[in-house]
Amino acid sequence: MSATSELPGGDAVPNPATAAGAVDRGVPLIRLEGLAKDYRLGSTVVHALRGVDLEVARGELVALMGPSGSGKSTLLHLVGCLDRPTSGRYWLEGVAVENLTARQLAFVRNRKLGFIFQTFNLLPRASALDNVALPLLYSGVSASVRQERSRLALAAVGLADRARHRPSELSGGQQQRVAIARALVTGPGLLLADEPTGNLDTRTSLEVMAILQQLNAAGITVLLVTHEPDIAAFCPRILTLQDGRVLQDVRLPGANRAADVLASLPPPVEQGAA
Ligand SMILES: Nc1ncnc2c1ncn2[C@@H]1O[C@H](COP(=O)(O)OP(=O)(O)OP(=O)(O)O)[C@@H](O)[C@H]1O
Ligand SMILES: [Mg+2]
Repeated sequence: MSATSELPGGDAVPNPATAAGAVDRGVPLIRLEGLAKDYRLGSTVVHALRGVDLEVARGELVALMGPSGSGKSTLLHLVGCLDRPTSGRYWLEGVAVENLTARQLAFVRNRKLGFIFQTFNLLPRASALDNVALPLLYSGVSASVRQERSRLALAAVGLADRARHRPSELSGGQQQRVAIARALVTGPGLLLADEPTGNLDTRTSLEVMAILQQLNAAGITVLLVTHEPDIAAFCPRILTLQDGRVLQDVRLPGANRAADVLASLPPPVEQGAA
């Protein structure tokens, strides 16, 4: 059984972005041509991206690296349809994103994309289950289906027994796993993660990378920003940005498996152990 079959979501709802026909598997999932983004602050213009050409195929696991301010988050936001480019073009599954209506864009963000952030962005007063269920509130499914899908998503990240916990009652790694479950709950094909291990210790970072690699092996495309070469080493492709441009695009077919590295670590010290 493939891991995707355990993941919630499914394709029951037609996708306006591909409504004109079935998805063409030969088309790159992401295609960017001359993508540029300027930010204007008063009379100052910051050229955050200065023309990025890029193709990412379905099923890739790509690390996005580069110095602070090189444009990594800006690129992730544009790919995530959270912002519009100043110039250049973006095709998602062969569909020109600039032609989508606001409603179609909202649909794409909700169903086709999942977002994971460094700071988890969980609602502090809501349980893990309710946090995970949140994206489903906008997709018109019943409360019982929301619960069922959210439970499956929590199980997929190994947190079935923490559904009732609030974020403050979870470790940092568990909070990030809740955030991954929330990103997965609508069944997206593309996960976008901005420094998902930036606030985590080594072991917990490995746990998060093992989950991302497992999801990738199940067919989900992952684009993740990281500053850490150790984390990028788990990705078979590493893109490096510098000053708003792609400096390097390197493929490493023999990327490490985070689960193997995790297994080679000494067992964790139990909390409260003498
Ligand atoms: N909303 C904004 N308004 C103005 N300038 C911005 C805005 N967002 C980003 N910038 C600028 O655009 C450039 C790229 O920023 P971006 O956040 O993409 O960098 P980054 O590579 O993600 O950096 P970091 O590693 O520090 O997160 C920076 O010079 C930044 O100051
Ligand atoms: Mg950033």
